[in-house]
Amino acid sequence: MSVLSKNEKLKNRPIGFMDSGVGGLSVLREAVRVLPNEDFIYFGDSANAPYGTRTVREIRELTFKAVEKLMEYDIKALVVACNTATSAAISELRSKYKDMPVIGIEPAVKPAVVCSNGGRIIVMATPMTLRQRKFRELIKTYENEADIVPLACEGLMEYVEQGISDKEGLKSYLENTLGPYLTDNTESIVLGCTHYPFIIKEIREYLGDRNIVLIDGSKGTSSQLKRKLEENGLMRDEKHRGAVTILNSSEDHKMIELSERLLQQNDQEVQND
Ligand code: DGL
Repeated sequence: MSVLSKNEKLKNRPIGFMDSGVGGLSVLREAVRVLPNEDFIYFGDSANAPYGTRTVREIRELTFKAVEKLMEYDIKALVVACNTATSAAISELRSKYKDMPVIGIEPAVKPAVVCSNGGRIIVMATPMTLRQRKFRELIKTYENEADIVPLACEGLMEYVEQGISDKEGLKSYLENTLGPYLTDNTESIVLGCTHYPFIIKEIREYLGDRNIVLIDGSKGTSSQLKRKLEENGLMRDEKHRGAVTILNSSEDHKMIELSERLLQQNDQEVQND
């Protein structure tokens, strides 16, 4: 007979992470740092990426399918490590999985406004994230405090999904897409898609010696996850050494190799909330 109480068994379950592809690993690497005793299951839906140019209905369907996959692993908490999936499906997910903490991510506009001096804040994200009511409301809250410029970056996440091998293409992309929005008073850029922290080096190189702060939401999301686990008595024993399992909907085995590489990539100079 098991000597573990129901709650003890729950505590020992893994935490599920999902994203449209490999981007959510930028949030997972922070969560692993904050919660070293936890086990994590990551599901990247690269076969169906990008989500950011799809309809809300399609994104919802794909997100629910991804979460069902994670549920097969008896997860104790869910992190939607994708701004796009969060904006399209977070309320529906919370209604369906009422008994489980469900944590989402949104562009880190608030921390950017907090450290701003009234200059320009550029928010790079997918077209879908920027179109959603959730984002429009977020902007409305802060529109009188800063010059917030949403920048839809269709096609940018693909550079990360393809292993950041096309450096020249990426450089031209940044020149053509980000370049026209940079002004002398640009203070910060919010990386509002979880794929973008993986190209921080390339963004930084493109910006040169401009004094611009780059901000993402991985720290805020990981702290929120930790808080939710504590509140629900779900933190794992400190003696346990956590492990990460990576799954991907793509049949290309290179996606798992890329995921493992990105999870180890250590170039976070992003100032995040
Ligand atoms: N990583 C996703 C996000 O944070 C989006 C990428 C996509 O378009 O699928 O929004």
